[in-house]
Amino acid sequence: MTEQPQINRRYFLEAEQIAQKLAAFFERRNLKPLFTNLFLFQDLGMTILIAVLDTSRIGDHSQYIDDDLLHQLKTELGGRSVYLSNSTGIRYVILLTALPRLPRSIELPADVPHGMVSLGMRFNGQIITLTWSKLGHLLIVGMTGSGKSSLLRSIAIQAIRSGIKLLLADIDQTTFAMLEGNENLFAPIATTPQDALQLIVKALAECDRRAALYKSMPGFPENMDEYNALAIKAGKEPLVRILMMLDESSSVFKAMGGGSGELAGKLAELGWRGRKFGIHFIFGAQEFTKDLVGAVREQVNMSIAFRVKPTSAQMAKAIGCTNAHRIPADRPGFAIVDRFGPMQSYFVPKALLLSSGTIIKDALSDLERNLFTRAIETAQGNLSLSRISEWGGISQRQARKLQETWALRGWLSKDASNSNSFYLTAKARNLCANGQSVQTRSNQLVPVQTN
Ligand SMILES: Nc1ncnc2c1ncn2[C@@H]1O[C@H](COP(=O)(O)OP(=O)(O)OP(=O)(O)O)[C@@H](O)[C@H]1O
Ligand SMILES: [Mg+2]
Repeated sequence: MTEQPQINRRYFLEAEQIAQKLAAFFERRNLKPLFTNLFLFQDLGMTILIAVLDTSRIGDHSQYIDDDLLHQLKTELGGRSVYLSNSTGIRYVILLTALPRLPRSIELPADVPHGMVSLGMRFNGQIITLTWSKLGHLLIVGMTGSGKSSLLRSIAIQAIRSGIKLLLADIDQTTFAMLEGNENLFAPIATTPQDALQLIVKALAECDRRAALYKSMPGFPENMDEYNALAIKAGKEPLVRILMMLDESSSVFKAMGGGSGELAGKLAELGWRGRKFGIHFIFGAQEFTKDLVGAVREQVNMSIAFRVKPTSAQMAKAIGCTNAHRIPADRPGFAIVDRFGPMQSYFVPKALLLSSGTIIKDALSDLERNLFTRAIETAQGNLSLSRISEWGGISQRQARKLQETWALRGWLSKDASNSNSFYLTAKARNLCANGQSVQTRSNQLVPVQTN
């Protein structure tokens, strides 16, 4: 038996007892208790024992994987959860602790770090938070009422908070209705498949425009971060990320002729060019046909499946989200993420969507507000390194880091007519003039409950 050092001794003893019970249980049924290995390990907040059968020596397998046997084994082990894994060999998976339960509803936190996106919580209480470039392109599936649109909305809000421009398609006009006219929209919200198709065309045209910008920039930038670093040095405007989100995208894809031909070509192009030019896409749909899944899956970095119909179990498996059809109907927001496993995605209360005050674009921290106000009042908006360092009481290095970040957000730009020093832009002045900084709520997440 292998034992991880951090596992409580109690579980180790329990595992030994279970091993003896297993042997006796099999013998009583005239089955051979030929276990090659017993693993004890912890994952997702659970302690799990795996008993591996030596399939080369047990003869007829069928009796070992019988539903009835599993059921009796469960009773024998005092009602513990017992699962069978027989994809490679035969393994009995026995939970020594209860299945952890995720809260049914977790509100989108207000304090997701700037420039990051948070999707939800895993079984072990860990929050899935990524940089936008790590998020890349994303696929979201799930049957009606499973939570797709809510996740899309929570991502849209976080994009706005990060100053990202949005291209949105909302065929049933319920997902993004509250964002109509929002100043972060890169184009009006598309409400027909044809308009949605135009968003893809527009995203590709933006790739062309950015390609030309990259080309004209000395230093051969290969991605947006590299380009922006060079642009700021040269006193040019940095590029902002663009996020295209298509809800109900299967209808859009149908309008584009399915998974072969035009669609596949356009998607592939946007897939690889988009990454390079800071343009991401997210496709949401109730389901994807086989040929569509092929075309889309190749382009995305991550797939998320909410509850799908039993008939879509294969599709969920094909995108790396096995068992999404087992998610109960009364668990909207619960999803399988191909890269992270089960997750409860964030819920965005209507009030948060409606109160424009909360979806503040590029909200200022207290430090930023103080420094910007002082720069405007005493230095015509000039924010040199020494000013940031002196006024903020921070090192030159920290000051440089802040200066770079602000330039990237479009809050500072170099003034060529003024010895190339950094000045606050109109955008930053507006933010300064408009209201208070967002109160970052302290950690208000519900801890994971275990039963
Ligand atoms: N993350 C979540 N946490 C808790 N409840 C949720 C969550 N997401 C969705 N719900 C609940 O499920 C309902 C349906 O969610 P949503 O509209 O996102 O589904 P959908 O997958 O977009 O469905 P459709 O395909 O019909 O548009 C919501 O009104 C809400 O009550
Ligand atoms: Mg929806």
